[in-house]
Amino acid sequence: MSSKLSEPSHHLAVSGGPTIRNGKRFPSWPQYDEAERTALSRVLESGKWGVAGAETEAFEKAFALYQHCRHCVTMVNGSLTLRNALLAGNPETGSEVIVPPYTFLATATSVLEANCTPVFVDIDPDTYCLDPRQLEAAITPRTRAIIPVHLGGQPAAMDDIMRIARQHHLRVIEDCAHAHGAEYNGRRVGSLGDIGSFSFQSSKNLCCGEGGAVVTNDDELAEKCWSIHNCGRVRDGAWYQHENLGSNYRLSQFQAAILNEQLKKLDAKLEIRQRNAAYLNEKLAQIPGIRPLPRKRETTRHGYHFYVFRYDAKVFADVPRNHFLQALAAEGIPASAGYTTLIYKYPFMQKKQFWTFTGWRQARPDLDYARTACPVAETAAEVEACWLSQVVLLGAREDMDDIVNAVAKLYEHRHELHEFSLGAQG
Ligand SMILES: Cc1ncc(COP(=O)(O)O)c(C=O)c1O
Repeated sequence: MSSKLSEPSHHLAVSGGPTIRNGKRFPSWPQYDEAERTALSRVLESGKWGVAGAETEAFEKAFALYQHCRHCVTMVNGSLTLRNALLAGNPETGSEVIVPPYTFLATATSVLEANCTPVFVDIDPDTYCLDPRQLEAAITPRTRAIIPVHLGGQPAAMDDIMRIARQHHLRVIEDCAHAHGAEYNGRRVGSLGDIGSFSFQSSKNLCCGEGGAVVTNDDELAEKCWSIHNCGRVRDGAWYQHENLGSNYRLSQFQAAILNEQLKKLDAKLEIRQRNAAYLNEKLAQIPGIRPLPRKRETTRHGYHFYVFRYDAKVFADVPRNHFLQALAAEGIPASAGYTTLIYKYPFMQKKQFWTFTGWRQARPDLDYARTACPVAETAAEVEACWLSQVVLLGAREDMDDIVNAVAKLYEHRHELHEFSLGAQG
């Protein structure tokens, strides 16, 4: 009798069994110390809180250098940096811009807000970044630019993308929102294309609450971005000398002060993430039905804004991803499904409800996103991708072991997981 009673009826936490983590917490984000506090006080007491202060100047210099570029212009966020980088290239109304669909909304909506037309090209199943093999087929006489996203921090296939872009005279705007400090064959992202766009929104690996920046080695693009972000002014011009259409997209000195301190700590944190991700790559790959996205040879430094592994429900007794993730959460592991809706599938995209941004009508009156199909991205978004955030990757080795043990536990007890899933489906 006693042996029967002591045998737990359920192994999985989601079914009432014991958890792997037992309430232990992963690190929290954002992280700061006395350095940020002192920097904020310094700005407060300086009385110079806004335009053209020492903090933005210092950060722009340091961040340009860090990303292997000559110029950096900080802005209010990483959505407007994309739009303004596009505008700085002065594309004709309606011009087509190639984007991946598996990314944050802004990669494509920035194109619409520049009065251009986003054209979606599928992703590579091994990187989830824009697939260069599919680029040529999407290029038309109206194509003017490509926006590759360095998804999760792994640089896109920039050699192939740049070769094709140069052949067709297209500008390349790198969306580096996930990839601060990432390197492709030893070169930092943002310096590989014509211009790079970064976000410093609060979840990002380099953050100040809200913020963004463009970096470039192109003097002319840098000047145009500077003018657009500063009400159309020109450097060395008078305060009310507005020579271009621009607006106020400037970062405050408080934000830049935080960035100056956070930038000093970025490399050390990137190293921790690289180490933990390498460990997860090795261990998770040994579990049937789990395939981490491989780290490419060209990725000499991964940005690891998040860690992606692919989940195969067939190997897990046909348990859908959402129930797998729910069970993982019950074990204490905060994984997510990431982007579950591709950009072209949002109802406002399918109905083309784009406010006054109707430039697409001139170039593509036939535009119909309901006919767009990117099967690799659809699989990633709808059934396969699982993400661990950069914060989780800052944990200790034992935290990584807990992740591996939790996934292995779900595999071992996949039939119990299947029972839970059936019950959850009602
Ligand atoms: C790939 C990508 N591009 C652009 C952005 C936009 O940045 P922001 O939130 O600073 O506007 C984000 C932010 O989440 C992003 O993940």
